[in-house]
Amino acid sequence: MKPASPRSAPPADPRIAFFDRQAPTWDQTGPDPAVTLRRLDELEGRLDLRPGLDLLEVGCGTGQITGWLAARVKPGKVVAADFSPGMLAQARARGVDAEFVLRDICRHKPASRRFDVVLCFHSFPHFRDPKAALRQIARLLNPGGRLLVVHLSGSAPLNALHRRVGGPVGHDHLPPARQWAALLRPLRMEVMEAVDRRDLFLLKAALPARSRSARAGLRHLARA
Ligand SMILES: C[S@@+](CC[C@H](N)C(=O)[O-])C[C@H]1O[C@@H](n2cnc3c(N)ncnc32)[C@H](O)[C@@H]1O
Repeated sequence: MKPASPRSAPPADPRIAFFDRQAPTWDQTGPDPAVTLRRLDELEGRLDLRPGLDLLEVGCGTGQITGWLAARVKPGKVVAADFSPGMLAQARARGVDAEFVLRDICRHKPASRRFDVVLCFHSFPHFRDPKAALRQIARLLNPGGRLLVVHLSGSAPLNALHRRVGGPVGHDHLPPARQWAALLRPLRMEVMEAVDRRDLFLLKAALPARSRSARAGLRHLARA
């Protein structure tokens, strides 16, 4: 097979270098991990993470919440993915009960395994191609599986924060709750709950359980 010409390689996402640089100090300079875990404790009932569920955390960063997730779904498994090697190195060093993988969610890769829940915590706005990420997420979900997109602030203050930070994340954008039904409709995913207030963004959506329409959805995804 002919090697791919260097010109055909897509340019590296500048966010990888950005998050690599943030990684060693993220737990001190990013959101306070103790506050994050306290807020997650309060939200626990609404996330509906039950023992036995297999969960994929996309954009796990330094793994601040990965151990918390693993404790909720045990004996189910957590796979925590990030495309920043620096972030993943910090996450792996925590030694929590999860598998850490280097993965860009915007790149299509055949699903080698599927999950009951895919969680994007404080990560979705940074996916450079949100539609490609959602297509890939839908492929990675079991029939009836759920997508959770969670931020401990609303879309408006978060998008304003990204504009202030600037650089590679200056235009990173969390779509407001009202736009998600249209984003997910082509994937046959249904919004179950959408909260977008100043201190919380919580989007819950689900693939249909296996049924005639779900099979049609999966055929549709295979073509997408
Ligand atoms: C704001 S940080 C949040 C990290 C972590 N969830 C937390 O709450 O501390 C966003 C993370 O998303 C990751 N990320 C951005 N785009 C990604 C992509 N296309 N695929 C996988 N991870 C990505 C970044 O590397 C970064 O670690």
